[in-house]
Amino acid sequence: MSIIDMPCFIQKQVSLKTFNSFRFEAKAQFFAVINQLDELEAALSWAKLQSIKITLLGEGSNLLLTGDVIGLVLINRLKGLDVVEHGNHVEMQVAAGETWHQVVAYAVELGYGGIENLALIPGSAGAAPVQNIGAYGVEIKDTLTQVQVMDREDASVYWINASECEFAYRDSLFKRDWAERYFITAIRLNLMRKPELKLEYGGLVKSLPENPTIQQVFDRVCQVRSEKLPDPRLIGNAGSFFKNPIVDNNVYQQVLVKYPDLVAFAVGDSWKLAAGWLIDKAGWKGFSENGVGVYEKQALCLVNHDAEKAEYLLKLEQKLKQDVWQKFGVQLEREPVQLGQMPNF
Ligand code: EPU
Repeated sequence: MSIIDMPCFIQKQVSLKTFNSFRFEAKAQFFAVINQLDELEAALSWAKLQSIKITLLGEGSNLLLTGDVIGLVLINRLKGLDVVEHGNHVEMQVAAGETWHQVVAYAVELGYGGIENLALIPGSAGAAPVQNIGAYGVEIKDTLTQVQVMDREDASVYWINASECEFAYRDSLFKRDWAERYFITAIRLNLMRKPELKLEYGGLVKSLPENPTIQQVFDRVCQVRSEKLPDPRLIGNAGSFFKNPIVDNNVYQQVLVKYPDLVAFAVGDSWKLAAGWLIDKAGWKGFSENGVGVYEKQALCLVNHDAEKAEYLLKLEQKLKQDVWQKFGVQLEREPVQLGQMPNF
């Protein structure tokens, strides 16, 4: 097969600027928007014959696009949402290309609980399991039962149980060993008609009436998030840029002695430090240089004001990592996934 036999829905040299929430400019060598499973299958078999690498993106909201992408970039726009009630339990099946926040809003509207704390997290439903999205004491792994995948080996489509995906804090096998093996095509959630609300995180409970409804929790989470986090439609960003580092008790005690106001949460024998607090304490909150910066209301969020490319953001990342290491002896680890060629420094 030659390049001429490429499926007609695949284009060449397409800008990805509007397909990544940082709004960085970079081109995909080949590009297609996938609306149907058979398009995904056709794209896969063509790319395999040509030995072309495929990257499947959702809404590009947890992505750091550092340069042009060699190979085929597919944008997942598979749509569909089904609900089946089994007594108090509700099984919600969602195609991977649905927008996550709309799924949450729909569940809340129907009175189904379990994901209301995950309101306003940017991104698609299919991307949600990859890094096990979480907010306000809830992670998607708490309600996720199964993930539907297309196996890149033979284009077969099947369901994997959530228990096999090794979900952990902002992590799963989809981010590691399975990154090159599967495309996520749908997810199944177990929601509840009489939900157990989780309100302990960050004073959520204090700002709500007694026995709040799912709708009230959802509204409050939306309000808190919009007050603290930049709207990606208005200012380029990818949510938290670093994970909250998990350190052992020795490191925690060393930092605590110097900084008694340190914000940290016990995780078993270890401690999860608030990376936003570390960056803030180091004096970077609101810093801006060369069109990129540290968001003025949440230091864990790096923003792109008007830089064309990711180069300066990568430089800022280095500075933040070095400074936090020097001041606190703590290593920061990037949260968004990097894609594309790296610029020469
Ligand atoms: N803090 C500061 N200064 C800052 C930012 C935070 O002192 O500039 C302090 C806060 O006062 C608070 C603590 O750090 O005491 C934690 O801050 P926050 O509640 O805003 O949460 P976070 O740990 O910074 C995590 C998730 C967010 C999620 C929130 C709420 C990670 C990497 N990030 O942020 O997820 O929305 O909790 O649950 O775990 C994302 O992953 O993209 C994301 C936005």
